[in-house]
Amino acid sequence: MDFEKLAKTYNTPLYIYDFDKIKSNFNRLKDSFSGRKSLICYAIKANSNLSLIRHLARLGAGADCVSSGEIEKAFIAGIPKYKIIFSGVGKRDDEIELALKKDILFINIESEGELGRVEEIASKLKRIARISVRVNPDIDPKTHPYISTGLNSNKFGVDIDIAKKLYIKAKNSKSIEPVGIHFHIGSQLTELEPIKEASKKVSDLLRSLSVLDIDLKFFDVGGGLGIKYGDEKIIEPYDYAQNILDTLKGLDVTIICEPGRSIVGDAGFFLTKVLYEKRNHQKRFVIVDGAMNDLIRPSLYNAYHKTYLLGKNENKSRADIVGPVCESGDFLAKDVEISDTKHNDLIVIESTGAYGMSMSSNYNTRARAAEVAIEGGHDRLIRRREHLEDIIESEIEYLRMDDEFNAS
Ligand code: LLP
Repeated sequence: MDFEKLAKTYNTPLYIYDFDKIKSNFNRLKDSFSGRKSLICYAIKANSNLSLIRHLARLGAGADCVSSGEIEKAFIAGIPKYKIIFSGVGKRDDEIELALKKDILFINIESEGELGRVEEIASKLKRIARISVRVNPDIDPKTHPYISTGLNSNKFGVDIDIAKKLYIKAKNSKSIEPVGIHFHIGSQLTELEPIKEASKKVSDLLRSLSVLDIDLKFFDVGGGLGIKYGDEKIIEPYDYAQNILDTLKGLDVTIICEPGRSIVGDAGFFLTKVLYEKRNHQKRFVIVDGAMNDLIRPSLYNAYHKTYLLGKNENKSRADIVGPVCESGDFLAKDVEISDTKHNDLIVIESTGAYGMSMSSNYNTRARAAEVAIEGGHDRLIRRREHLEDIIESEIEYLRMDDEFNAS
C-alpha cells in the first residue's frame, strides 16, 4: 500500500480500507458454513461507510442493524430486505415501525416490554412482526468487560426461562411470528469454549421450544470473532463454524451470524501525520494530526493497535503517539519504539477498519477524517473529509433566533 501517495492525494488523517481483504474475510467465513444454509449479516456498527456496505452487499451479505439509521443505510447500500435484521436493547417506537414497514427479515427482541411494543405497533399497522428472542446464556466470553454481553450482569438479552415465556406469548399473538433465536456473548472473542457453550445452551432451548410446537427457522449466533491486534491467538472461522454446527445436529435451521470486526477490522489502516515531537524529563511524545475523536479505541479500552513510522527504522526510542485533543486520555499508542520523527512524517495505525471511523466524533470541533477504498490496486474516495460547514450545519440557523431572543 502506497501510504505516501495516499497521504499526498487525500491528505491526513485518513482511513484506508482494503476492499480485497474484506472480500476474502467475508468469503472465508461464508465458506466455513458451507453445507448448511447460512446468512452472514454484517454488523454495520463496525464500519458503516455506504460504499463498504455496498461492497459487502455485492458479495451476498445481509446486515445486522441496531438503529433506524443503520436500517436506512443498509437499504441505501443495496442490501435486500429479506437479509436485514434489527437488534439492540432499546428500540424506539418509530424504529420498530420502520422495521415493520420495510418488512425486514426479523426483529431481535431483548425484553418482555419490547415484545409488547412490537406487538402493539404491528397490530396497529396490520402487519405480522417476525421476531427472534435474544437469549442471554450467562456465559463469560473472556473478553474486555466493556464488550462482554452474554453475562447476567450485562444489559443484553433475556434469561432462558424468560425467553421461553416470550416465545409462548409470541406464538399466541395474532401479530407476532417467532422465526428465530439469537445470542451474542461479546466482541473480540479469542476462545472457542464460551461460544460452543452458548450455542449448546441456546440449541437446547430451540429443541425444547420445538416440543411446544414452536419451530424456529433461524439460529442467530451473533458476532464477536476476534482478530489479531497483537500477539493474541485467534479462532479460525472453520473451527468457529464447526463448533457451532456440532451443537445443531438434527436441527433444520439456517445459521445467521453477525460479524463486524472479523470482516473489516484487519482491512483498515489509519494514516496520520506527525506535527511535532516533544520530550520532558520522563517521556517522549510524538504529536500527530489524528486524535481520539478519530480513533477512540486506545483511549476507551486501552486497546492496542500496531503503530509504526513509515520509512525510518534507525535510532528507535520509546514514545507515546498522541493527538491534539485537550485530554490526557488522547493517545493512539503508548510506549511505541519509534525513530526520531520530523514534521509531516507518516504514521500508520493498523487494524482500524472496525470501530474506528464508526466511533469517531467531532470533539474539539475537529472535522472527521476522509475514507478511501483500495480495490484491485486502485484507490478511490468513499467519504470526503468533513468541513467546518458540516459540523455547524445543524446549529448555524439558530444563531439568528438567538440574536432575536436576546434583542427582545
Ligand atoms: N451483533 C451484536 C448484537 C452486537 O452487539 C455486536 C457488537 C456484533 C454483532 C458485532 O460484533 P463483532 O463481530 O464486531 O465483534 N466498540 C467495541 C466493540 C463493540 C461491539 C458491540 N457489539 C470495540 O471497539 O472493540
